[in-house]
Amino acid sequence: MGFQIRVLMMLSMSICLASVVHAKQGTSVFYNPPYLPSACFSYRNQGIMIAGANPTLYDGGKVCGRRYKVRCLGGTNETPNPCKGGEVIVRIVDLCTGCGANEINLSRDAFSRIANVDAGRVRVDYIQV
Ligand SMILES: *[C@@H]1O[C@H](CO)[C@@H](O)[C@H](O)[C@H]1NC(C)=O
Repeated sequence: MGFQIRVLMMLSMSICLASVVHAKQGTSVFYNPPYLPSACFSYRNQGIMIAGANPTLYDGGKVCGRRYKVRCLGGTNETPNPCKGGEVIVRIVDLCTGCGANEINLSRDAFSRIANVDAGRVRVDYIQV
């Protein structure tokens, strides 16, 4: 195999690995509209596909405006069919002081894309995009 091909293969493999490694597992809850104001943007509307970050992720506001891809992995309680499948991309607009470690507070609109709102809290993974 040529040297360049090998370098390319190693590169694409490490990019692949990096994205797996950096997807964090946690949980997700949701909140209802009205979504304004937010800790990051006050009354500047950022749409409805938005989320609040736990204090660690929020990092004093550094995470504001970043986009995360969130997937539902399963339930945290006995509610049937907690996940809908697929993924949703949200923009971090808020601080969620009540969130636990690795917890994301999705807007109801974002949560209901990937999960059943009756479940209340689901297991997710999320990665910055
Ligand atoms: C989610 O965000 C809403 C709105 O900011 C807040 O009222 C609610 O307490 C948050 N959820 C948790 C678990 O902290």
